[in-house]
Amino acid sequence: VILTQDELKKIAAYKAVEYVESGMVLGLGTGSTAKHAVDRIGELLRQGKLRDIVGIPTSKMTHEQAASLGIPLSDLDSHPVVDLAIDGADEVDPELNLVKGRGGSLLREKMVEGACKKFVVIVDESKLVKYIGGSGLAMPVEIIPFCWKFTADRLQKLFEEAGCVAKLRTFPGKDEPFVTDNRNYIVDLYFKKSIGDLKVASDAILQLAGVVEHGMFLDMATTVIIAGELGVTVKHK
Ligand code: A5P
Repeated sequence: VILTQDELKKIAAYKAVEYVESGMVLGLGTGSTAKHAVDRIGELLRQGKLRDIVGIPTSKMTHEQAASLGIPLSDLDSHPVVDLAIDGADEVDPELNLVKGRGGSLLREKMVEGACKKFVVIVDESKLVKYIGGSGLAMPVEIIPFCWKFTADRLQKLFEEAGCVAKLRTFPGKDEPFVTDNRNYIVDLYFKKSIGDLKVASDAILQLAGVVEHGMFLDMATTVIIAGELGVTVKHK
């Protein structure tokens, strides 16, 4: 049997929900993989197999999904400590560093997942990379709209040696800038080579005044669940 990518995402998501216990404050991720985990949590609550869950959504989209499933919701102001967060990722490197934010929710994800005791990442095996940026796909940076081009140019310049190209994200099929839940823009960085030391790269990006946050989640994942054709692999930090 050959499983579709969506079936693999669902397998990883269901496995992660096994870590959920009644009474937990839960970070609810965003994206097509995390969506399965939120659905499953809603189902277990409905069946009475889970009780007293408080969900902290990482996006407006997840907020809507979780609310429609009847999951009780709150935020970091009321629940500054999160027991467990479950979320997808765009890239996972061998040290379990991540790229996130292709869906545009990186800032709230980083706030919620940075506040949790356990962060379980769920992916299908296509997300595994040798090094961050290695998929050739975007590494997103959330920036303020004011003079976005100036900030995009500075970001591109920062990673000149890695052959970086910075592109303002637009709504699919349109010319308008994509706007995040926080009313910011996103610049997607594409690299031709490795950017080297990730902590140094992270610091350099965050140093730029127009930058709000970037999509590298360094040393944050405590567990990564990878669903592949040959089964499920669980890696712990
Ligand atoms: C949302 O902004 C992202 O960080 C997602 O968590 C990430 O892009 C993974 O999404 P998929 O599960 O849809 O691949």
